[in-house]
Amino acid sequence: MSSPKIVIFNDTHGWHSKQLVDALKLLDITAILTDLADCTIDLDHPAGIIIPGFEDQLPTAAIVRGIAPGSLEQITLRMDVLHTLAELNVPVFNPASAIEHTVDKARTSLRLHLAGLNTPKTWACENSTIAREIASKQFSQGRILVIKPLFGCQGKGIEKVTNLGEFDAIQPVGDAFYLQEYMAPFESSHWQDWRLMVIDGQVCAAMSRRSQHWITNFAQGAECFPAAITQEMEQLAINAARVVQADYAGVDLIRDQQGHYSILEVNSVPAWKGLYQATGISIADHIAHALAKRISSSHKVPFNNAVH
Ligand SMILES: Nc1ncnc2c1ncn2[C@@H]1O[C@H](COP(=O)(O)OP(=O)(O)O)[C@@H](O)[C@H]1O
Ligand SMILES: [Mg+2]
Repeated sequence: MSSPKIVIFNDTHGWHSKQLVDALKLLDITAILTDLADCTIDLDHPAGIIIPGFEDQLPTAAIVRGIAPGSLEQITLRMDVLHTLAELNVPVFNPASAIEHTVDKARTSLRLHLAGLNTPKTWACENSTIAREIASKQFSQGRILVIKPLFGCQGKGIEKVTNLGEFDAIQPVGDAFYLQEYMAPFESSHWQDWRLMVIDGQVCAAMSRRSQHWITNFAQGAECFPAAITQEMEQLAINAARVVQADYAGVDLIRDQQGHYSILEVNSVPAWKGLYQATGISIADHIAHALAKRISSSHKVPFNNAVH
């Protein structure tokens, strides 16, 4: 059998794609780098989709490393490609379902909540009067709120609000309110949260991110340290990845003042440069091995049988 040829999707391929290409090569898997925006839906084609570099065949598997911002229509077409690959039983790390569950923070919060996993109190709505009433009630109960962009990442656009004056000054991105109770740090000397990388149902690396600022993303300049994790943290992260259906995920945990951990968010297209630098663990090797395992256990579905 010829060696598997897979696709890595991103709009710009950089360090992470290179890490994956090298890790996959060691397993005799060839990776073609392309962009979901360059795929075509073509019903003259048996699979219905054409991926650059795979004109007459399907990739053996796919890894999604990035989806560029676009119009609702553009994003819809890109998700159509990912959904169709999954329907054709092509392993996709991560599938469209996982991306949909995590790109939208409200959807993640709902999945975590309905699965009974610990996550901070959260509210999301469009109606500004309702949002203001929620904020007013929380302030009166002594809570501080965090307002986040629904599609936010890397700690961008997050604000802390302590009173209605501050709340009124905020113009939420896309006129959608996503409000969360602010979790004061467990240790008063610094802010800290944890990033755990879950791959194929196991935590393969973990770090703590510490900062003198309350937003502790690596991209916001937080210091990263390798971290020992408790069983509580491990189980939370594994369960969080499972409830959003992610084959690999970066899970952010925070510790409340009572010492319990909560899930802040789940990233289904996580960066791992900070984690790699802090721990020396090759995340790309772990993803490549998990993908190779999935490829060997997956069976292609005939085109005319893909959707029932
Ligand atoms: N509810 C919260 N309480 C305290 N800190 C928070 C809260 N939400 C976010 N943060 C801080 O902001 C950072 C970014 O928030 P997160 O929800 O992970 O969004 P992003 O997608 O931008 O990373 C977290 O890593 C944490 O340091
Ligand atoms: Mg985060």
